[in-house]
Amino acid sequence: MEILDVRVDYFREVERLKEEMNAVVLAHYYQEPEIQDVADFIGDSLGLAREAQSTDADVIVFCGVHFMAETAKILNPGKTVVLPDLEAGCSLSDSCPPDEFERFIKERPGHAVISYVNTSAAMKALSDVICTSSNAEKVVGSIPEDTPIIFGPDKHLGRYLVEKTGRDMILWPGTCMVHILFSEKKIRQMKVRFPDAEVLAHPECEERVLRLADHVGSTTSLLERAVASDARRFIVATEAGIIHQMRKAAPEKEFMRAPGRGPEGSCEACAECPHMRRNTMEKLYSCMENLEPEITLDEDLRLAALRPIERMLAL
Ligand code: 13P
Ligand code: SF4
Repeated sequence: MEILDVRVDYFREVERLKEEMNAVVLAHYYQEPEIQDVADFIGDSLGLAREAQSTDADVIVFCGVHFMAETAKILNPGKTVVLPDLEAGCSLSDSCPPDEFERFIKERPGHAVISYVNTSAAMKALSDVICTSSNAEKVVGSIPEDTPIIFGPDKHLGRYLVEKTGRDMILWPGTCMVHILFSEKKIRQMKVRFPDAEVLAHPECEERVLRLADHVGSTTSLLERAVASDARRFIVATEAGIIHQMRKAAPEKEFMRAPGRGPEGSCEACAECPHMRRNTMEKLYSCMENLEPEITLDEDLRLAALRPIERMLAL
């Protein structure tokens, strides 16, 4: 069990280490509020990849999940990339073992392969181009009309893209363990109780939840909508960490977690990603102090995974 040393001011220590090491702390919106507050940059997967690409820091401290830190390392082989908890995985990435995906592709020759960024380097290396939820429509649109497409690993994002772009894609059947748990029925009940509330949803949610949404988009897009909208109340169907930034950006508005399928108070109802939440302030401090756990990658694999990421970033 992790012990919090109450004598340490983790916030101040992280700030000190940043300066001493010329380190930058990048955090995803799904991190716990304290980590977001100490980060130099907070963003969605695409924003974080771009920030990792352009930073001149010597050390990248990546507060997110493994595939995100790995993407930062792929883009920055000469920099040290550390992640507070190496076990911070992702159910989507886990749902797509590279050897099975390779077989899947080989059985369907002639297809362009688009992979969501929520994948391992080995899976990226098998892909033609990567996308995130911010740029997925653009990436699908970059594939010539007469080329059939395989999309993996998120079947809900894939289905949403088929609907938005009109392209008929073959989908790998992966899902996000957090976004599939939102309850359509309970969101409907909430809308009856708060008829003025807008529903904001991430495209990893099921179709029946997306049908209830006033706005569907990446985490950055949901935040932007929360600020720009005239609505005063929102039901947020994505990981609850983003509500911290929503409240900071629009303190006069009310943000409610979309209810999950489980009973109130249960894990299935908390809308928190157990992988993202493995990172804590103590682990953040410790990974900076010890420069580990560090992300390392075989150079051939890195180069193979870099190609489809660069294709995405060039778009
Ligand atoms: P974004 O690309 O919107 O940040 O989403 C990342 C993610 O892990 C969603 O579950
Ligand atoms: Fe993966 Fe879902 Fe967690 Fe995002 S929220 S990191 S897709 S398990």
